[in-house]
Amino acid sequence: PAENGKQNQSQSNGSSGNEPSNSSDILTTRQGHPVSNNQSLRTVGNRGPATLENYQFLEKMSHFDRERIPERVVHARGSGAHGVFEAYGTVGNEPVSKYTRAKLFQEKGKQTPVFVRFSTVGHGIHSPETLRDPRGFAVKFYTEDGNWDLVGNNLKVFFIRDAIKFPDLIHSQKPDPVTNIQSGERIFDFISNTPEAMHMVTFLFSPWGIPANYRQMQGSGVNTYKWVNADGVGVLVKYHWEPLQGIKNLTQAQAQEIQGKNFNHATQDLYEAIERGEYPQWELNVQIMEDGEHPELDFDPLDDTKLWPQDQFPWYPVGKMTLNRNPLNFFAEVEQSAFGTGVLVDGLDFSDDKMLQGRTFSYSDTQRYRVGANYLQLPINAPIKKVATNQRDGQMAYHQDLVPGLNPHVNYEPSSLGGLKEATPAGKDHTPSYSASLVRQKIDRTNDFKQAGERYRMHEDWEKDDLISNLSNALAPAAKVIQDKMIELCTKCDPEYGQRVADGIKKVSEMLKKEKEMSKNGNGQPAPGSDAQKH
Ligand code: HEM
Repeated sequence: PAENGKQNQSQSNGSSGNEPSNSSDILTTRQGHPVSNNQSLRTVGNRGPATLENYQFLEKMSHFDRERIPERVVHARGSGAHGVFEAYGTVGNEPVSKYTRAKLFQEKGKQTPVFVRFSTVGHGIHSPETLRDPRGFAVKFYTEDGNWDLVGNNLKVFFIRDAIKFPDLIHSQKPDPVTNIQSGERIFDFISNTPEAMHMVTFLFSPWGIPANYRQMQGSGVNTYKWVNADGVGVLVKYHWEPLQGIKNLTQAQAQEIQGKNFNHATQDLYEAIERGEYPQWELNVQIMEDGEHPELDFDPLDDTKLWPQDQFPWYPVGKMTLNRNPLNFFAEVEQSAFGTGVLVDGLDFSDDKMLQGRTFSYSDTQRYRVGANYLQLPINAPIKKVATNQRDGQMAYHQDLVPGLNPHVNYEPSSLGGLKEATPAGKDHTPSYSASLVRQKIDRTNDFKQAGERYRMHEDWEKDDLISNLSNALAPAAKVIQDKMIELCTKCDPEYGQRVADGIKKVSEMLKKEKEMSKNGNGQPAPGSDAQKH
């Protein structure tokens, strides 16, 4: 059986490399039979009927019938590239080993192969890449200690802080189950009842909600993780990718103009830049906080709707990533790639962030359904490290994780007959302890509006204008109860924000009313360039 080598993957379309070499250009079936006629069905006479024993046709057509797998339930539209991560070995003036024993970070210049998938979130696999939506930024590090997936977004905060709300959040953003059309009213029905979303909304409805492309956007782990050193001491950590190409976002009008001509512009931009040899780069920064509840802060460090203020928790660069190779086969490498927040290496750990813990169930669960039980045997998902498990079989089992020289009859542990053995721990375990009642409760320090208000005030004027225009346009057709709740939430963030949204909704509603009257009176469309048409 083939070893799960990234080398193989780089040779051909994500193939494992254990196929017999076939240098001939003769077409065959998947059974290796040469195909001498690929133009005509085998039929009784040249007008048919067809016969059922025609293996060549049955194989070709039935494989075609199965060409699609379920698309990702979120982040279905995406694009990917291979590259390398190079470590700096330090955190500020200190060696990185003070905080983490993860091998990939230790030495300056150490290189780790990576695969990255960028994505939009809400719509289907061929939806436009100009939509207002967070962008996914998922990185798979093929480390010597096995894989590490850092599954992030471009924006640094999220809509909700408890994983149990995720299906509701997504349902509100997906198309209406009756009309199959996405509806601003449904989105804001949920958001207006979810005050913790205001920080995210204040980013998302500004130009930050439409990055110009994948190369000029930031990335963030969003959730709080831990780093653990050789003594088992853990610290809280946040990850941030900073693009060395700079950051570029689009207004709604700019995005619409691009979408009218090209709805694949971000995939095309990434692919073509790499083909030209203009390799995009990002620096990875971390923010570090001592493990604990930090009652002195006005937010909870495990709350993913909050930023950690940079003046108190500086960004430390810890490495640089370069994307330098396009996939050879989109399906094998991008569509079947599977990232998950549970995929950590020694020296990295989970925090108690409730979103992170819920996510960690969801990713591998969906991938066992979406790709199959043996999704980790696919070259794009398999680690470069030799895999040695006692897991066997299942659909599409491609090989067993056998170690040469070990007793192949022993697929259990412990055994005295020559099976796999447990590893020696790489360092002291990180062993946080708990004493609390088992409850269903919100965290104490929700503080939903302070950072959202700061974000509103930090936006440049053109960003504020676009934010108000986008919110007003989305809210004007919504029910009054939703408008009122949203105005109230915006006001709690900043009174000016609330006032501008209220004025904006009023203005757009009047225009919509005027437009409706004009079409009712048979006046046709508003004149080009009229205010009504601008909205
Ligand atoms: C994809 C669940 C929150 C970033 C996915 C997928 C699921 C999922 C089921 C599809 C995975 C696949 O089919 O391979 C959840 C749940 C969440 C959550 C349950 C909250 C409880 C987040 C957050 C972020 C995020 C906060 C950002 C940090 C991503 C990305 C992908 C993704 C980037 C695409 C990965 C890829 O390119 O294959 N999520 N998600 N998700 N999620 Fe989440």
